[in-house]
Amino acid sequence: MRNIDVFDTTLRDGEQSAGVNLHAHEKLEIASQLERFGVDIMEAGFPASSRGDFLAVQEIAKQIKNCSVAGLARSTIQDIDTAWEALKGAVEPRLHIFLATSPIHMQYKLRMQPHEVVEAAVQCVRHAAQYFPVVEWSAEDATRSDWDFLVQIVEQVINAGAKVINLPDTVGYASPEEYARLFRYIREHVPNIHRAKLSAHCHDDLGLAVANSLAAIDAGVDQIEGTINGIGERAGNASLEEIAVALAIRKDVYQVETNLDLSQIVLTSRLVSKLTGMPVPPNKAVVGANAFAHESGIHQDGVLKNALTYEIISPEMVGLSSNQMVLGKHSGRHAFRERCLELGLRLDDTAFNELFKAFKELTEKKKEVTDDDILALATDVAGQQNGYELQLLHISYGSNGVATSTVEIRKPDGSVVREAATGQGSVEAIYRTLERALSERVVLSDYRIQSTTSGKDALAEVYVKVKYHGHVANGRGVDSDVLLASAKSFLDAINRIILKEQFELIATNS
Ligand code: KIV
Ligand code: ZN
Repeated sequence: MRNIDVFDTTLRDGEQSAGVNLHAHEKLEIASQLERFGVDIMEAGFPASSRGDFLAVQEIAKQIKNCSVAGLARSTIQDIDTAWEALKGAVEPRLHIFLATSPIHMQYKLRMQPHEVVEAAVQCVRHAAQYFPVVEWSAEDATRSDWDFLVQIVEQVINAGAKVINLPDTVGYASPEEYARLFRYIREHVPNIHRAKLSAHCHDDLGLAVANSLAAIDAGVDQIEGTINGIGERAGNASLEEIAVALAIRKDVYQVETNLDLSQIVLTSRLVSKLTGMPVPPNKAVVGANAFAHESGIHQDGVLKNALTYEIISPEMVGLSSNQMVLGKHSGRHAFRERCLELGLRLDDTAFNELFKAFKELTEKKKEVTDDDILALATDVAGQQNGYELQLLHISYGSNGVATSTVEIRKPDGSVVREAATGQGSVEAIYRTLERALSERVVLSDYRIQSTTSGKDALAEVYVKVKYHGHVANGRGVDSDVLLASAKSFLDAINRIILKEQFELIATNS
């Protein structure tokens, strides 16, 4: 059986999803969980894109020991040098450098002739290969490129030092059969291709990202790229968990192995969903809430007689049953710390103490605290570390449909502001009051609420998407009270935008 490399780009292409704006410590939490999941390479970010991304990549490169850490760079010497500064502390640093090769991108975006594209690619790969032990070169929009042009440029970048050649389906345009043919063509026509690994990277615009990735594996690629939960630009990237499970369940067809620990799938999916504020649809393959639910009587009857009648994936395989342990009122610091570690939460003492305090408060209201509750609390506590903080919320609501809210928030400069406003319902009143306290217009474009577990004592998780100062960000808030969770989610989104602005300011001043 052949082994293929798994390249995760949740922290780079995934973070490019609209509204996703992760703090550095959240990226590190995801990185630790990806390491536990067993990915071979994680793309930690795009160091030259912002000061915040640079610092996050640098920290991940320092902390992650069991897999290669990659950073993205455009084809400029400055991007490559910045990426090296961020990645040089990694155990196995990798540069992922790209340049578009399709006629439409070369003519309209790059405004370069094909021979200039080849020269730029070769020059940059040669420069990068002086520092990086592995340089991965991507032909952006490969699936809309001329195949013979690809043959020419791929041969030259391999001669310049590229060890991995990635042919992305950047706009999710390819069909599975066509994508597989492209890889076979490159393998047959590039004379030095044996000196490099081939990689597939698919987007989901036509809903074909996973199918295309599997077709590429069938065509013999050595590496597969994707994100957790399929998050990413536009319709997203190929879902790594779906590819991983397809390869395991249909080993008879694909005949390949990976180093992934499939029992980490559910945990990884939940962590990414909570930290990015992007919920997983209930019907999503492998990780959706309904993926193992059997509704019809005929199916239930079949599953009770033999689970294999309607269940091709066992819940245990993806880590669902390992999620049974519950903590409660009598659980101590030690058991709680152990559980946090198992959940991939890396917390310094201050963060741990805060989380433990929140956990103890929750056990006063909720008998059994599940992994989901802990993850929800952890993401909430972490989100409170910077910026605006809610100090008081008061709501009065009557049957006339008008709600009045009073809030008190502490501003980043330490001053406290108190405001009141009315609204058609409680949530509207809260958001109007917070907007007034911020003295700036905030546009709310999404509001969603869900509970961590079932039952009356479940925690409420509220996800919002807001536009403030021209930036869009997702925010989330968790509380046993829905209205408090709503207020927290709003301020969380605002705080993410403020942090982004601070980094942009540092970048322009440095
Ligand atoms: O989809 C794409 O083309 C990319 C490149 C940066 C490799 O993400
Ligand atoms: Zn991509």
